[in-house]
Amino acid sequence: MAVIRFVETNERIENGEEISKYLETQGIVYENWDITKLQGDLQENYEVTPERSEAILNVFKPEIDALSAKRGYKSSDIVVLSKATPNIEELLVKFQDEHHHTEDEVRFIVDGEGVFTIKGPKDGVYFDVVLYPGDLISVPANTRHWFTLTDLRKVKAIRIFESKDGWVAVYDESELQSQA
Ligand SMILES: [Fe+2]
Repeated sequence: MAVIRFVETNERIENGEEISKYLETQGIVYENWDITKLQGDLQENYEVTPERSEAILNVFKPEIDALSAKRGYKSSDIVVLSKATPNIEELLVKFQDEHHHTEDEVRFIVDGEGVFTIKGPKDGVYFDVVLYPGDLISVPANTRHWFTLTDLRKVKAIRIFESKDGWVAVYDESELQSQA
């Protein structure tokens, strides 16, 4: 279950229901899927082969399909970040720059941990969402955010896309589309 940490006050929300409620007030989709459905080494194995990726996506197909029908998502894949990732430190430096996308950024944590720091779309208040296996978040389009790993230094996740083109990072906040 995720944890929310407010950047300025260090205040935390650790209760599942309250986390869902807070994220809902910010217009952020959060779900928790049953990670124990993954059999064998599908959760822990960081060597991503097409076979293993397909097997993981198949296990969560009902959840992915239901969310995609609601939000208009069209494709999904598996991504891993770990000490074995070439240029991991450079990648992380890039991910830690505040940016937004023109479509939702959707991540389901299969293994490891990840942190999205989000500028609350409704009030501009910055908060961290620490994500653990089973957590799904959809950072809404045009919402400023950045991503980091925890001390575990690894994450394996399902990414779900509307179109891969929309997932280009826009670093310049002045390029935010007006929300008319
Ligand atoms: Fe992003």
